Amino acid sequence: MIAIGCDHAAVEMKNTVRDYLTEKGFEMKDLGTNGEPCDYPDMAEKLCAEITSGNCEKGILICGTGIGMSIAANKIKGIRAALCADSFSTKYTRLHNDANVMCMGARTLGQGLACELAEIFLTTEFEGGRHQRRIDLISAIEAKN
Ligand code: RB5
Repeated sequence: MIAIGCDHAAVEMKNTVRDYLTEKGFEMKDLGTNGEPCDYPDMAEKLCAEITSGNCEKGILICGTGIGMSIAANKIKGIRAALCADSFSTKYTRLHNDANVMCMGARTLGQGLACELAEIFLTTEFEGGRHQRRIDLISAIEAKN
């Protein structure tokens, strides 16, 4: 199951990406917002809880720029959120960082690109190997702070 959530700046893009991924066969859990005002830190926390609890495997967060969502999501233990705006970074944040949340900006990306990036994110597997050691180092920073 893939969680998707947005603030009020990104409802249209969230719905477009959700429908695109559903068409592609992904099971989507839509956490809103559907238009009502929503502070992005609240949505980031709600969506990340779906991942840390094991309900959802990965998440997609969309706000105006994607930046607020990524800052908030990365405060949560076990979350590796990546701001995605190009295909190379989106692919490599899965291959090397094992990112479990992708963040995008509805005011910075076109909807076609957002759908394509989401599909790349969800279909690229973590490479493991030497990259796992670096993920463990990130977890150690988390544990210390
Ligand atoms: C909301 O206006 C806007 O600040 C938010 O969507 C986002 O861009 C924050 O990073």
